[in-house]
Amino acid sequence: MTYDDAIMALSSDALRFVKDGYIIGLGSGRAATALVKSLAKLIRLKNYNVIGVPTSLQIKLIAEKEGITLVEADQVDHIDVVFDGADQINSQKHVIKGGGGALLRENILFSLAKKIVVLADKTKFVKDFTIKVPVEVHPLARNSVTNSINKLGGSADLRTLDRGYPFFTENGNIVLDCDFGTIKNPKMLTQKIKQTAGVLESGIFLRKPDVIYKAKENGKFEII
Ligand code: A5P
Repeated sequence: MTYDDAIMALSSDALRFVKDGYIIGLGSGRAATALVKSLAKLIRLKNYNVIGVPTSLQIKLIAEKEGITLVEADQVDHIDVVFDGADQINSQKHVIKGGGGALLRENILFSLAKKIVVLADKTKFVKDFTIKVPVEVHPLARNSVTNSINKLGGSADLRTLDRGYPFFTENGNIVLDCDFGTIKNPKMLTQKIKQTAGVLESGIFLRKPDVIYKAKENGKFEII
């Protein structure tokens, strides 16, 4: 049994938060993909009338293939429940997201959601954040935001693809992966990052998930 088995098992369990008629936010990444596949099975089995709102082209393609009806975030005024993965979760239940570059749309969905369910494996749970914070930045603000990140005590790396080309988000922006070491005050840090001109989104999300699933390596999971 592996983490992947646990993610599969918990994605089925998480469907308990889905009801007929719901508008459902579909996060991005591996955990969200497992969830979307389980959700599609539930919809077929129970003939549910649910609508999905994707956070990226990645999950949109999976959901389309699974036959889930989709609309975009600007066509709904709320989302009943969002299911998403995370890159790191601290002891205060803040999350870092954006490993796949979908942070802006993910945070828009978080803001519209009545309930947020996060699915992650055990390795992502920490006391304080330690990973680089993804920051979505307008390309013309690359240098000014890099300087601001330095002033905040961090260092910014432009995210690139395998052959060195810059990575562009689906919104046409770049991502700076910003190293702040161990982050003791994520709230203050993300507020300062977001005050910087040219920053579209910070990967530190302050809205705490309502439910967090933790996958373990023995194929089991727990709910926090
Ligand atoms: C996408 O930008 C991210 O926020 C993902 O949700 C996050 O990286 C988790 O992805 P995995 O479930 O693939 O680890």
